[in-house]
Amino acid sequence: MNVALALEGNDWWRRAVFYQLYPRSFQDSNADGIGDLQGIIDRLDHLRGRGDSLGVDAVWLSPTFPSPMKDFGYDVSDYLGVHPDFGDMATMDRLIAECHRRGIRILLDWVPNHTSDQHPWFLDSRSSRSNPHRDWYIWRDARPDGSLPNNWRAVFGGPAWTRDEATGQYYLHSFLEEQPDLNWRNPAVVDAMHDTLRFWLRRGIDGFRIDVMGMIVKHPDLADNPLNPHWSPGSAEPKFLWSSNRNYPDVYEAVRGIRAVLDEFPGSMAVGEVFGTPDEIARYYGSRSGLDGLHLAFNFQFIHEHGHVFTAWDAESMRRIVQNAEAAVPPGALPCWAFGNHDRSRFISRHDHDGRGHERARAAAVLLLMLRGVPFIYYGEEIGMADVGIPDSRLQDPARFHTPGRDPERTPMQWDGSPSRGFSAVEPWLPYGPADVNVAARQHDPASILALYRRAIGLRREFRSLEQGSLRVLPSHPDVFAFERSLAGEPSATVLINTATGVRRASLHSPGRVLLTSRAAGAAGQTGQDFEIGPLEAMVIIHG
Ligand code: GLC
Repeated sequence: MNVALALEGNDWWRRAVFYQLYPRSFQDSNADGIGDLQGIIDRLDHLRGRGDSLGVDAVWLSPTFPSPMKDFGYDVSDYLGVHPDFGDMATMDRLIAECHRRGIRILLDWVPNHTSDQHPWFLDSRSSRSNPHRDWYIWRDARPDGSLPNNWRAVFGGPAWTRDEATGQYYLHSFLEEQPDLNWRNPAVVDAMHDTLRFWLRRGIDGFRIDVMGMIVKHPDLADNPLNPHWSPGSAEPKFLWSSNRNYPDVYEAVRGIRAVLDEFPGSMAVGEVFGTPDEIARYYGSRSGLDGLHLAFNFQFIHEHGHVFTAWDAESMRRIVQNAEAAVPPGALPCWAFGNHDRSRFISRHDHDGRGHERARAAAVLLLMLRGVPFIYYGEEIGMADVGIPDSRLQDPARFHTPGRDPERTPMQWDGSPSRGFSAVEPWLPYGPADVNVAARQHDPASILALYRRAIGLRREFRSLEQGSLRVLPSHPDVFAFERSLAGEPSATVLINTATGVRRASLHSPGRVLLTSRAAGAAGQTGQDFEIGPLEAMVIIHG
């Protein structure tokens, strides 16, 4: 067995390559068309294990808890269980053990902002105004003129308030009306939610991806959100800002409370789903007194910026995004990068306007894995999966905040080229993509994107400057994003990303050796100080 040792030390996550896996879509083991935990166990060798595996260090599973699945698990009805579609507690325990045996750490997806409307806490809460759980959620009367309690909008569209006939009050839901927001200003809620973390940490879970981190604590008076000065009728901008319910300053205190719970379990960690300016994001890592917040906070700028999907693939944007992130993360903290996730169109589809999305995806693999910080690979990126067109009759996602919802990027993992793609013995919950995009076809092809991912991950292991070194943006041709990774006492590396569809000239401060190129036919070997970099090519060069 070729199983590399797990990263050592409580700060293993600083050197880890993470993999986000959507459990419904990874592997179906019981022929119901839905992926499950046993399926994940069966496929762990792809991630790390025998033979040619990707070599990732940690996985994050999108929610696995019991849920009515209105938002596919982001509506939790029991934080301490496993959804029967995915298996049971015994299978979860086995998954944890199997991951650990292979040196893979495992994160669950913790959803603290809201529960399902079927969670017993909410069923209690809505039952009467005097129920002890009433104040676990956010209930308000209509305003004196009969209008909604405030002007907040739900992220998925429409007002963030729904009136409950039984008690005549409105409850707040920042997402679907089946996802009522918890009241994090109630200490009983804080305690109960902290205990859900402890429950899983005791079972061996290594940490959490935290859903909608930035919205859990709202303005104490639920003040109206101000009008967005950039909005005008018909513009794509939201009409109101989110200042009362996103990144409200008190949220950072709640984050420190969550961190304190994690600190009870040395070696555990959390990565937050956060949105906002680089400075707002940086504050999630901690306060002035140190890194006492989340271990990592996602930087989504390669996926979307200011609510707009990121489709540019140009060196200037890369320079700006990377420099902003580097400037904003506090000393000692690491940026955290993802190029795709279960909420946005897949990378290839976002960058395919000229049919060259695959070449950009190869360069993106190199960029993601060579940046300073912690990379998250979204399942299927390593084999070049693109969005799958979903016929209207098969749409599943209730959230249509971007058409046609989020199903196209959540389709089953493609293991082989058979009609079932090796995923399920029956019709899958979402349709498959083209048969030629699959693991088996890429597995032994040294020119495949999968081989490229494996080599890039391998290089991070091999060269400490790539894994842990500092990052400095280098002057370069305007179409070439160039940066250096260096660490005292170690050979430094230059990374070059040519974002143009033509050849460009690149020059180095000193000659080096090409360790990796994103072009299937790209040449390895020595380079001079001046050389050509091919169309959409990414290169890693080592010096000394
Ligand atoms: C996050 C999740 C998304 C979910 C939403 C509500 O943004 O990534 O999938 O719908 O939170 O929980």
